[in-house]
Amino acid sequence: MVSHKNILLESFVFLFMMYPDLAFSHITPNIQQTSYFPLYNNKHLHIRCFNNPSYINNTNNNNDNDDTSSPKTVLFEAGTPFYSTIWGNVLNYMPNYLSNNENGKLIKQYCVYDRYGYGWSDFKGESVRSDEMVNDLQQYLGSIGIDDGIIYVGWSYGGVLAQELAATNPGILDGVVLVDSMDVLDLNDTLIQNIVQGVYSFKILDMIKVTGLTKFYDGYPLPSGYLSESINLDGQLKISNNMVYFGSDFLQSTVFELQVIMDSLGLLKSRIDSLAKGKTLLGDIPLVVLTALENQDEDWMYRQTLLSNYSSNSLHLTTNSSHFVPIGPTFYDIIKSIDNCISLGLK
Ligand SMILES: *[C@@H]1O[C@H](CO)[C@@H](O)[C@H](O)[C@H]1NC(C)=O
Ligand SMILES: *[C@@H]1O[C@H](CO)[C@@H](O)[C@H](O)[C@H]1NC(C)=O
Ligand SMILES: *[C@@H]1O[C@H](CO)[C@@H](O)[C@H](O)[C@H]1NC(C)=O
Ligand SMILES: *[C@@H]1O[C@H](CO)[C@@H](O)[C@H](O)[C@H]1NC(C)=O
Repeated sequence: MVSHKNILLESFVFLFMMYPDLAFSHITPNIQQTSYFPLYNNKHLHIRCFNNPSYINNTNNNNDNDDTSSPKTVLFEAGTPFYSTIWGNVLNYMPNYLSNNENGKLIKQYCVYDRYGYGWSDFKGESVRSDEMVNDLQQYLGSIGIDDGIIYVGWSYGGVLAQELAATNPGILDGVVLVDSMDVLDLNDTLIQNIVQGVYSFKILDMIKVTGLTKFYDGYPLPSGYLSESINLDGQLKISNNMVYFGSDFLQSTVFELQVIMDSLGLLKSRIDSLAKGKTLLGDIPLVVLTALENQDEDWMYRQTLLSNYSSNSLHLTTNSSHFVPIGPTFYDIIKSIDNCISLGLK
């Protein structure tokens, strides 16, 4: 016999998974926002953009690459295995910042998105290294009219993607903000061990998922991408996030991504190693490095200083937070860093 309760539950799962509008319905409902699903190589990627009502368009219809006058798009890039939902607190605070700060008027929109297999983006079924991800991302962004003036905010592994794009196509960027970002010194045995363990855990989760048992347990650790009751984030976002967690190819996508992190770091390292003498990876791109003071990694502050030295136009800030800055008590420091990054670009 089929139970009605189950049918109801399944259709709720379906609704949440189909419609990011439901997931984001509590996030600044008065701000105009759109989820786009551009197509490239037969796959759709989900990109959700929020309009800035305080944006003042003072471009003179010219298409030059004058950085100070092109409309800016802030793009948020999460770390593994997180995606658009993790930015809820930052998104909630953006309108307040935008309407109260001069630099805010230069921002046309701000967007979050989901890498392949996360959130509402199509499953790719294979590992996607940073250079391919960043290339595809540019195709997707281009097809919704975003091809200039990007301020790329990368957290954790998202920072590796931001470094990759900045190193290969700086022209489309107005700035980079690295939030407790990974760096090439992560290429060591500890990381390999962590990744092997991570892959193993995610594979187990994926296997027991089919039993349905996992749906009733609220105890997964945060690094697994599950957002439990205790996480300070909008409830609707958490519900949607956790339905994606169990109801899609999320876990498999996480395995694919873990498997490619070393390659992505290796690629960055080879770019750095082949720089001409006196050149740095990010040239003079406005760069703000935001370091989490509670990050326990060895030599973290030294490594983050090294990162900030990648650009000759940079600022190094710290925040009193664990590595999970976007959902921590000091998430506002991410917005402060964006503001500082715009100021660096105006100098
Ligand atoms: C800004 O204004 C110019 C000239 O009026 C217009 O062509 C352009 O599309 C506007 N840009 C944006 C981002 O609204
Ligand atoms: C090696 O990588 C791990 C994982 O990213 C990091 O926690 C650790 O601090 C790194 N060790 C060194 C010596 O850089
Ligand atoms: C970063 O650059 C500053 C100024 O050039 C220099 O004093 C410092 O030693 C550099 N830090 C690292 C970690 O390379
Ligand atoms: C940092 O946060 C911890 C707890 O979250 C608090 O005890 C400490 O006083 C804070 N430090 C600073 C410098 O704000």
